[in-house]
Order: sequence, then C-alpha cells, then structure tokens
Amino acid sequence: MESPEIFERGNWGSKIAFIFAASGSAIGLGSIWRFPIMVGLNGGAIFVLCYILSVFFIGFTVMLAELTIGRHTQKNLVGALKAIKPNTPWKGVGFMGIITGICILSYYSVVAGWSAGYLYKTIKGAFRGEVTWQASDAIFKTFAADALAVLIFLFVIIAITTFVISKGVKSGIERWSKILMPVLFILIIILSIRAITLPGSETGLSFYLKPDFSGFNLNVLFFAVGQAFFSLSLGMGTMTVYGSYITKKENLVSSAGWVCFSTTLVALLAGIIIFPTLFHSLQLTPEQFKQDFEVGTGIMFQAFPIIISKMPGGYIFGIMFFSLLLIAALTSTISMLEVPTSYLVDEKQWSRKKAAVLIGAGSFVLGIPSALSNGGVPFLTKLNIMVVMDLIFGNILLALGGVLISVFLAFSWKVKNSLKEISIGSKKFRLRSLWTFNIKYLAPVVVSLILVFIVMKNIL
Ligand code: TRP
Repeated sequence: MESPEIFERGNWGSKIAFIFAASGSAIGLGSIWRFPIMVGLNGGAIFVLCYILSVFFIGFTVMLAELTIGRHTQKNLVGALKAIKPNTPWKGVGFMGIITGICILSYYSVVAGWSAGYLYKTIKGAFRGEVTWQASDAIFKTFAADALAVLIFLFVIIAITTFVISKGVKSGIERWSKILMPVLFILIIILSIRAITLPGSETGLSFYLKPDFSGFNLNVLFFAVGQAFFSLSLGMGTMTVYGSYITKKENLVSSAGWVCFSTTLVALLAGIIIFPTLFHSLQLTPEQFKQDFEVGTGIMFQAFPIIISKMPGGYIFGIMFFSLLLIAALTSTISMLEVPTSYLVDEKQWSRKKAAVLIGAGSFVLGIPSALSNGGVPFLTKLNIMVVMDLIFGNILLALGGVLISVFLAFSWKVKNSLKEISIGSKKFRLRSLWTFNIKYLAPVVVSLILVFIVMKNIL
C-alpha cells in the first residue's frame, strides 16, 4: 500500500487532506454524468428526493462503516475482513468488490474517454457560436459511434490511470486535485447561475425540483440507492482503502459527513445546469419530457455544449470545464484501480507495476464492448452493453456489497467494537443511536428487500 503520509502532506491539516482525497474519488462522472441520467429516467424530482434520503440514511451509514473497518485494520477490504474474522467466507465480500471495481472501471473509462474527446473538440472550436439541441445531439451521437476514436480515448484513459497507480505518483495527483476540485466547484456554480437565468428555465427546474409523488415506485428507490453507492464510491472497498490511510487522531464521523455533503452538492448543481438547459433548448413541458424525450447515456454531453455556448467567454469556459471533468474522472478511475492493485500487492506480494498493468489491460479489454455499444457496432448497441454493465455492477453489485458490509460490521464484528474505533478521534458522536439502527436494520433490510424485489421482477 502507498505510504499513508499522502494525507498528511501540505498545509491542509490531515483531516481536510483526507476529505479532499476521498471527495476526489467520490466526485466524478457519477455526480456529473450518471446522476442526470438517473434523474431523467426516473421521473425527475421524485428521484432527487429519494437520492438525498438514500445518501443521508444509507450512504452515510455505509461510508462510516467502510472507513471504520479500513482504519481499524489498516488494510484493503479483503485483508480487513480476513484480519477481523480469519478463516470465514467474509473475505468473499472483498473479492466481489474487486470484480465489481474492475467491471465498473471498464465502462467508466469509456465515459472518461468521452470527456477527453469533448475536451479535444472544445479546443478545436466545435462548440463556438450558438449550439442548438439538434446540433449538440448530432455531435454526441456521431462521436460516440466513432469506434476508433472512442477506443483510442478509452486506451488513453486506462493507460494514464495504470501509469499513475503503477508509479505510485498518487500523492502528486491528489495534491493537484486539492487545487483543481475547488475550481471545478466554482465553475459549476457559475454555470448553474447561467442555466437558471435562461428563458424557460422554470420548466426544467420544476421537473428537477418539484416532486410528483405519483411517479414514485420501487424502481425509483432502487436506482436512487444505487446512485448513492455509486457516487459515494461505496460497496466495493474503495472507502475501506481510504479509511486505512486515516490516522487515529481524525474524526471519522465528520469526515464521512463532509464527503457525502460535497459529493451530493456537486450532483445537485450538475442537475441545476443540465435540466434548465435542456428544457430551454427543447421547449418542452415536464410532461412532454417524460413522454417524448429519450434519456440516453449522453445527456450531460448533449447539454453542456449548449450552456457553454451561452456563456460570455464560452470557449475558455468550455476548455476549463472539460479539463476539470477529465481530472475529476481520472481521480475516480485511479481510486477504482487502487482497490484490486492494493489487494495483489498486499496479499499476494505482486509488484505494483505488474498488478496495475495486468488489471489495467484487463479492464481495457472488458471496456471494448461498452465502448462500442453507443452506436459503434449495431449488435452491441442493440444489447445496450454499457447500460447493462452499469445496471449489474454499478447498481446491483454495489448495493449488495453495501448490504454485506453492513451485516458484517453489525453482526459479525459487532457494533460495539466498531463504536470503539469510531470514538477514537470523535468524542461526541451525536448520531450514534441513529447510525446503530441504520447499520443494523435500515441499510441491510431495506436495501436487500429492494434488491430481491427488483431481481424477482426482472427475472420472473
Ligand atoms: N464515485 C465515483 C464517481 O462518482 C466513481 C467511483 C470511484 C466509484 N470509485 C468507486 C464508484 C467505487 C463505485 C465504487 O464518479
């Protein structure tokens, strides 16, 4: 494992440094690309409401669990489960996390590649002048269907990620992201102000923020829980690895709280930009949107060029936005590759380089079908491979991982032992009884019920 001092370096003080590093993993395409898709597909504001509740009641609960397991054992998830309960099948949860992580990395990198492609397009001036919905839609579809370009960008993303992990230059990246993530945040705020001042933005805002309770069903809740896990990097051991870097001085509760808060804020602001922009250019009512608009994997890439073209200094804004999006995506891909790599290095004594290169190559190959499933190859497009991968790994397996981690902490390691670890560094844990209830009952029971329901509904 990399040296823990990465979180103590610089003049941030260690707790803030940890929050930046963990938010660097969490904030990425999950909040800016995936969240708006989920909002669009699941009825708008009702989904947003379920997502916020999922983050608060389930995401925060599981995040604190993962951080606590990581700090207590100072190990990756497989090692941690083995250390707390040796010779039990619990380590299987860690292996499941490794597989899930590699699969998510594969299609996530395709989208990170799209961001790189969009940066390139922006620099070339593709979004100069007024960009209409029709133009933006056509640009996205043509680009995503360009098999060669998409594969090259996928390769570049995985190569950069592998390089960073194999060299262990993570600390440098994380130091940069401390400066760049706040810049991304400011940029997003400026763009959201522009979006809500567009004529017709009210219809977009009402779709996004005014819940229609009749649209609620278990599917919405399922995708909201899945989105909470995905955007907070939970359910596969990422936050366990990050927790293993935290020193005993630090307050795990407030650290977890800050990471949840900052990630959710970025997601909410991304929606504030995307929906008013789309509704402005499409001139649709929320009802028409729900009926007629086909929400695809490109909704963010279709909306951002439009809003950027409406900014004074849009060219520079566009370059800044897509550069920062790319960096946010890379800090997330790096955290995903770290999980399997740290397992092979710690538990199997592989060299860092060998582990990173092998897993990087594997995820590139695994990413090819997803890369070609957005128009590149008709057969793969019809099977909608990227969406299916995301459903299985990004929703079902992360949620299952979250359930199992909660059950492990609550009933195998026991809440009272974990509370001992939590109380080191956080004297007053005001939400103690709520957290205890959530980790024992709410997270495992509610999430498993949702999973069982969804699996039954789709299989039977
Ligand atoms: N949370 C990141 C994002 O929203 C993606 C990510 C990084 C992730 N590590 C993860 C998702 C682990 C699930 C599990 O962009």
